Amino acid sequence: MIRIKLIKFISLPLIILLVFVFSVKVPAVITGHCSDCHTMHNSQDGAVMVDYTYGAETTGTKSFLLRGTCLGCHAQGSLNIINMRGNQVPQVYHTDGSSDLAGGNFKYILTDDNKGHNVTDFGDTEDTLTSPPGHHQPDGIGVNIACSGEVGCHGYRKNVNSLIDMKGSHHGNVDGKLDTADQVYNSYRFLWKVKGLENNGSYKWQNKDQNNHNEYFGDTIPMTAGGGCDTTLCHDPGGKRPESQTISGFCSTCHGAFHFKEWLSGDPGTGASGSSPFTRHPTDVILPDSGEYNGYTTYSVLAPVARQTVPDTISSSVTSGASGDVVMCLSCHAAHASNYADMLRWDYKSATLSTALSGCNVCHTSRN
Ligand code: HEC
Ligand code: HEC
Ligand code: HEC
Ligand code: HEC
Ligand code: HEC
Repeated sequence: MIRIKLIKFISLPLIILLVFVFSVKVPAVITGHCSDCHTMHNSQDGAVMVDYTYGAETTGTKSFLLRGTCLGCHAQGSLNIINMRGNQVPQVYHTDGSSDLAGGNFKYILTDDNKGHNVTDFGDTEDTLTSPPGHHQPDGIGVNIACSGEVGCHGYRKNVNSLIDMKGSHHGNVDGKLDTADQVYNSYRFLWKVKGLENNGSYKWQNKDQNNHNEYFGDTIPMTAGGGCDTTLCHDPGGKRPESQTISGFCSTCHGAFHFKEWLSGDPGTGASGSSPFTRHPTDVILPDSGEYNGYTTYSVLAPVARQTVPDTISSSVTSGASGDVVMCLSCHAAHASNYADMLRWDYKSATLSTALSGCNVCHTSRN
């Protein structure tokens, strides 16, 4: 009798706990207190539980009972590039100027629209451009892009409510090598269907040096639009994503003419032949094993390359030739914002030629 009571006593709370844990499927990636990030009623001692707000963000209730939106967790505007909220949270907007995350730092758009993507969540809209340069019209994207959702970059890029497109990604987040990339949680940085290897070492989320950086996925030939932009290329019924699953293909879902081998309405894109002479700077083409290009042998975070297959580990080498490495949009640009015009990785506008060409020369080595 006593034994039975004891078992009941132990097992009931245990069962409740297990049912709770398994029913919400919370894998080990996110640890710590649920209340670090969620609030059941958005009320504690009668006060709201949204402890941080950015710009236009309100203190009202949030989807998934969250205590903040993307910016509440990822753009706290403090000094650090990584903050704690029970877990480490990468900060895409921070005040420290000495280092940035791999994507850059959105603080630069607050001084100059030209330095990055004016993501509307920040409330500082683009004043010059009216649509993504290189996109087809009518585009449906407009100029006001968001972190996620139908006019955003992360998640499925399908729904008006941007958090829905991220559902399950945080708790399911797979780190390291992302070669499957069929769901948001197992895609590179929650960019649906994009492949890559996330830097998961001491410098997580950063491109620090030749030994500590993300590995990007690339191809040997850009995508071809030819007749039209259909479901195969970008507009999947499940959301928007690049057929090639490369990082340059991802950028080209909004900047098509700057990547595609053949673009729409007779526009040649980067060049119909996919080989020299090009009509725009190519991406997803190899570094030829000749002349200027095979001088690039040690990985440079100033002008990084992408790999034809997603590697198992980070490599500090660069190889040219048929099975070698490829040029990508992120060889020259940041993804979020940089301190330079056109979101470039270096000061291409500098009056000092060696500074202006510093990134170009990493690949075009004989033109130093
Ligand atoms: C470090 C922040 C953080 C912590 C801690 C956290 N969550 Fe979440 N959770 C999120 C975010 C962000 C989302 C919404 C976006 C998404 O689904 O990726 C979310 C979504 C959810 C969802 C809906 C989507 C899904 O994955 O099923 C559930 C349920 C959930 N959390 C339960 C929990 C529980 C239970 C705990 C505590 C054991 C917890 N969370 C702790 C950040 C957190
Ligand atoms: C409640 C806090 C919280 C909210 C809200 C939140 N995030 Fe996160 N986010 C986190 C944490 C914590 C991590 C780190 C997860 C880890 O280490 O696996 C993270 C990681 C990420 C990453 C990097 C994933 C990777 O590959 O390492 C991306 C991208 C991201 N979040 C995007 C978003 C977007 C977009 C939104 C809004 C739709 C959002 N987050 C809302 C807490 C949050
Ligand atoms: C969801 C659509 C979308 C995606 C995906 C996208 N962009 Fe953009 N991009 C835009 C829009 C809209 C603008 C113009 C407004 C702005 O600059 O904020 C823009 C502007 C730019 C600019 C010019 C910045 C300026 O203000 O003059 C550069 C450079 C750029 N994008 C590069 C990239 C790169 C590199 C990628 C891939 C990592 C990428 N974009 C992915 C929509 C997108
Ligand atoms: C070789 C370096 C390099 C690569 C690779 C590159 N860009 Fe650029 N991009 C530049 C430079 C330099 C500029 C400044 C304007 C110019 O010189 O055309 C620029 C400008 C832009 C602009 C702004 C155009 C405007 O009208 O203001 C966008 C958008 C852009 N790039 C997107 C991309 C995308 C998307 C990719 C990949 C498909 C890409 N770039 C690949 C160097 C590069
Ligand atoms: C990551 C390496 C990389 C970087 C950085 C880079 N390029 Fe290139 N560039 C290439 C490759 C690869 C080709 C294509 C070579 C081929 O297939 O013939 C190319 C082609 C070109 C061409 C066209 C050549 C032709 O035959 O049509 C020009 C011009 C050029 N690059 C200029 C620049 C300038 C200017 C910069 C800096 C703003 C720059 N590149 C940065 C790798 C790079």
